[in-house]
Amino acid sequence: MNKINLQNARLAVTAGTPGQLVRGPLPQIAFSGRSNVGKSSLLNTLLGRKALARVSASPGKTITVNYYDVDGSLLLVDLPGYGYAKRSREEIRRWSALTDGFFTKNPSIDRLRAVVQLVDCRCGATEDDHMMLDYLRNADIPFLLCVTKTDKLSKSALSSALDTIAADCSVSRDTLIPFSSLSGAGREELWQKIFACIE
Ligand code: GTP
Ligand code: MG
Repeated sequence: MNKINLQNARLAVTAGTPGQLVRGPLPQIAFSGRSNVGKSSLLNTLLGRKALARVSASPGKTITVNYYDVDGSLLLVDLPGYGYAKRSREEIRRWSALTDGFFTKNPSIDRLRAVVQLVDCRCGATEDDHMMLDYLRNADIPFLLCVTKTDKLSKSALSSALDTIAADCSVSRDTLIPFSSLSGAGREELWQKIFACIE
């Protein structure tokens, strides 16, 4: 698996409706989290690119599922962020239809190897994060819990934030993946865990 050329990544498909979701044999890893948690930044860091995934100046604007093809071997799937307060009713409807559709009306759901759930180290898990984790557990979809923006906390504050998040999400602390898109911390560990999921 380590033979995948991570430099060779491209935005393959932008799906705005469940009907546009990708059908195909490639294994998929999806990325989920509230708006502004740092999903697009994390994808750029994983792929070693500055602006492959668009980092939003206006959070929650784009309601699409973006598929990044990595060397023709793997799809990284950027799910639309949730919990953005200033959304119109129509935007919320589109968000629900698309996100629900990804999990329940997706012809290639059997290709989904894991969901990387992102939680901001400063906010901890939100009610929506808990709903997503409950859903993944009930649906038997493996997940990796990634704690973002770790550069924003001191070492000791981060350590207690990790304890809190682990307890709150009922996972063992050493399964958490602390991540910073600013420093690149956690990049290797996350890749190793992703590779383990698709092997
Ligand atoms: P939506 O697409 O709106 O759902 O947001 P997103 O989850 O993709 O977040 P995005 O990557 O666009 O980042 C949101 C903001 O957080 C941007 O201003 C980023 O620069 C900042 N940010 C993201 N990751 C990090 C990080 O690791 N460290 C710091 N300090 N800032 C970060
Ligand atoms: Mg984004």
